[in-house]
Amino acid sequence: MPDSNPCADLFDKPLASPFLRAVHATPVRPYYRPLQARDGEAVVDGRKVVMAGCNDYLGLATDPRVTAAAATALRTYGTSCSGARTLNGTLPLHGELEAAVADFLGTEDAAVVTTGFQANLALAALFGTGDAVFSDAANHASLIDAIRLGAAHRVRYRHADPAHLERLLAEADPAAAKAVVTDGMFSMDGALAPLPALTAAARRHGARTLVDGAHDIGLLGPTGRGAAELLGVHGQVDLFTGTFSKCFGSTGGFLAGPAHVITYLRYAARAILFSASMPPAALAAAMSALEISIDEPWRRHRVLSLAARLRGHLAGLGYDTGPAPAAALPSGPVIAVRTGDAADCVRLWQRLLDAGVFTNPVGPPAVPEGSTIIRVTLQATHTDAHADRIAEAFATARRASSVPVTPAVLARPRQAPAPETVR
Ligand SMILES: Cc1ncc(COP(=O)(O)O)c(C=O)c1O
Repeated sequence: MPDSNPCADLFDKPLASPFLRAVHATPVRPYYRPLQARDGEAVVDGRKVVMAGCNDYLGLATDPRVTAAAATALRTYGTSCSGARTLNGTLPLHGELEAAVADFLGTEDAAVVTTGFQANLALAALFGTGDAVFSDAANHASLIDAIRLGAAHRVRYRHADPAHLERLLAEADPAAAKAVVTDGMFSMDGALAPLPALTAAARRHGARTLVDGAHDIGLLGPTGRGAAELLGVHGQVDLFTGTFSKCFGSTGGFLAGPAHVITYLRYAARAILFSASMPPAALAAAMSALEISIDEPWRRHRVLSLAARLRGHLAGLGYDTGPAPAAALPSGPVIAVRTGDAADCVRLWQRLLDAGVFTNPVGPPAVPEGSTIIRVTLQATHTDAHADRIAEAFATARRASSVPVTPAVLARPRQAPAPETVR
């Protein structure tokens, strides 16, 4: 964080993260790599590889129906609304997408915003002086920033620990307005929040439950409404936020909940009021992808079954993929392979790339201090052969673990800026 990174000249900031400093001490440069992804594959440095590091879980970002809808909107409305929703940036498409999101999630209303990050930042308008917000320790950066931006007292409970939450709620000022805020499916390790216990604790203490369904809405549950639906507590969640950049083949975010709250946020949330609205092509792409995701449930079934199979393969190879999902719960499309220090992590990443598979090497602050992971993600458009190639790459990397990485493949990509932070 900036305040832990002092220096005499603002322009002389060193990389704040020890993880990134350690990565930069190696010859591997995994971040800001230019790549082009489509249908479970990517071209990296002119070479075709299996893409196992993309959040397009349902494989809709390059679906011809989605791109055609985006192209039509682009031709009809241009590239940008050039303004915020309130004054001059509202198209009919905004209202149509909002109605579709509210209909899909069964909420009274929804607001669409330009990114998922902003959807969460908008929550700051709810977090006022004297209020208390209880936040899972592993929540996404955008939820953390929303709480920092608001004036409420922030209380962190241990990751996915409803008993700890309950204790903290019991100790809180009974007069304070309270909210429990959590990711539905955690972005880095794909674990599910224990929503039944969290919503029950929140209700017992008069707190609202706010769930960021960025990674699970569109994917989990009998009708794809997300982790809350999967766990049988969709109706216990007071407000959802989410993104169109993962399951819905586009870019943009949404908030969905009671009509009066959405109206309040439309007029009070600075992240909505003071930023240009979601652009036409992104709106049309999101609308098309949402419809396809509803009409083609095979996509979510496919990605979940591929993930379960790959998780089994990786565990069989001796990789630590964390605790298995609880019985009867699906294995999400995010698999976090625990690695050692920063150098171990990026060395494995490079070996996987050498073996033809692109993954994501992740360290703090995106995962807890002292840990690193290779984050592997699957997509509905992966073939069985793709999944086998991912498993084979991990097997090859395992065998090669005592062999140094070839210097020829370590060249820094042209025009790639140095990363400042992982997320
Ligand atoms: C849990 C979670 N919430 C919110 C976001 C932000 O979404 P967007 O990329 O649409 O800004 C992300 C993105 O990585 C995320 O993982």
